[in-house]
Parts: sequence; structure tokens; C-alpha cells
Amino acid sequence: MAKLLEGKTCLITGAARGIGRSIALKMAIEGANVAFTDISRDENMQTLEAELTNLGVQAKGYASDASKFDVTQQTVTEILKDFGKVDVLVNNAGITRDALLMRMSEEQWDLVLTVNLKSVFNFTKAVQNSMLKQKNGSIINLSSVVGVSGNAGQSNYSASKAGIIGFTKSIAKELGSRNIRCNAIAPGFIVTEMTAKLSEDVKTEWLKQIPMKRGGTTEDVANVVLFLASDLSAYVSGQVINVCGAMNT
Ligand code: NAI
Repeated sequence: MAKLLEGKTCLITGAARGIGRSIALKMAIEGANVAFTDISRDENMQTLEAELTNLGVQAKGYASDASKFDVTQQTVTEILKDFGKVDVLVNNAGITRDALLMRMSEEQWDLVLTVNLKSVFNFTKAVQNSMLKQKNGSIINLSSVVGVSGNAGQSNYSASKAGIIGFTKSIAKELGSRNIRCNAIAPGFIVTEMTAKLSEDVKTEWLKQIPMKRGGTTEDVANVVLFLASDLSAYVSGQVINVCGAMNT
């Protein structure tokens, strides 16, 4: 059977670990060439680069702070030089700086909004021209169930993830006539280093709210990214797909 992403080049931000790493591996297994970014060229980046290359595809990691506009432009220029095109963009880089509003600093607000939301603007804008020229593209943005329904102690994170949904729906309308699709995924509780930081009490409370009675795996999310990246979803755009074990439906 033909691989789902044969001949496509995918760009994933913040992919050295966690959900992004699973997405990168899934895409390479399905035949895509993979460019990915993360904040620094550390061991995680080098390991993933080697694993992807071993799968027989072209792969390269780029140290690039997704929250910085100029850096992003330069990175995408480099990626287009190395890979020739970008067919799929996955805006995955994200952080948390949780606090109740009472205790939230301006820095915590600004950092989360800049890394989570501005980064999506930065990368989408940087790949836009090449997608317009080829009249083809799929942009996939990692939102969160918290962006759909809010969460006490995460007003900055929730606002950034809700902003991503507004951006996604707007870009789907703006670029739809050029065959460029834009969708968001809203994961629930996924077991990664981001959620490992939470206290046992908080984790137990989360699990109680999940009808499927387990946290999601990074592969659960990567499988939905694969669907949105591939031509199986050729007529799906402007949507938010929850991957949350029925927690938020
Ligand atoms: P993670 O913390 O394990 O990985 C995030 C990656 O992004 C890290 O490798 C980090 O170095 C990178 N990164 C952070 N700031 C960056 C920047 N400025 N530029 C480039 N890279 C940067 O997180 P995880 O869990 O894999 O999350 C991935 C995405 O999924 C995030 O957008 C997160 O908000 C979202 N998400 C995660 C959920 C979960 O339960 N883990 C639930 C809902 C959404």
C-alpha cells in the first residue's frame, strides 16, 4: 500500500520531544521528508534527526525560537533551500507558565502568548508564499481542550490556545481558494514531559474527568495529525478536532 505522505515535505515546530517528536516519526514512517525545529540543537534534536534519517527520508533539525519573527523567516528560508518546499506545517511548539490570575506576572502572560500564539503567526506567514505558489498546503495547529473550555490557573495558556482556534478558522477562510487547508487539534490530557510536571493530585483530578479513563499518548495525537496532513482529509478545513478521550465533548 502506498504511504500516506510519500513525496511531501513536513515542517514541525518544537519537535525534539513530546507530541512533536511522535508527529515527526509518524510522518517519516509514512514517507515524508521532515524538517523540524526546537529551541536548541541539543541531544534530543540530534537523536531525532538520526532516527528520522534511519527511516530513509530526508530529515534535519533546526535550532530556532518560534516566538521570534525574524528568526522564523530565516529558518524557513533555510528549510526551503534544503528541502525545496513545505507541504505541511505543524505548529506544535508550546509552553505553560501556570498561575492563578491573582499571582500571574506580566512576564508569564507575555511569554506564553508569544511562544504559543505568535509562533503560529510567524511560521504560517513564513510558509505562506511557497504554499500559495504550489497551490497546495496543510497547516495544523496544536490548540488544547483548555483553549475551548478554559481552565482555572491557566488563563494565559487558555487564551493562547483559544487564539490559535480563531487564527486557524480565519486562515482556512483566507487561503481556502488556493487549496491551502488549516485545522486545529485540541488534545486533552496527553502524557508528556509537559504534563509530567503536574502534581499527583492535579493528575488524579484530570483522570477523573476523562470518560475513557486514561491519559492520551503522543501517538494518539500524531495519528490525527497524520490524517490532517494527508490527502485523506482533502475537504477538511477550518475545523478543531478534539483528541481527548471524550473529556470535552
Ligand atoms: P513538551 O513540553 O513535551 O514539548 C514542547 C517542545 O516545544 C519542547 O521540545 C520545547 O523545547 C519546544 N519549545 C518550547 N518553546 C519553544 C520555542 N520558543 N521555539 C521552538 N520550540 C520550543 O510539550 P508537549 O506536551 O509535547 O506539547 C506539544 C504541544 O501540544 C504544545 O503546543 C502543547 O501546548 C500542546 N498540548 C499538549 C497537551 C498535553 O497534555 N501534553 C494537551 C494539549 C495541548
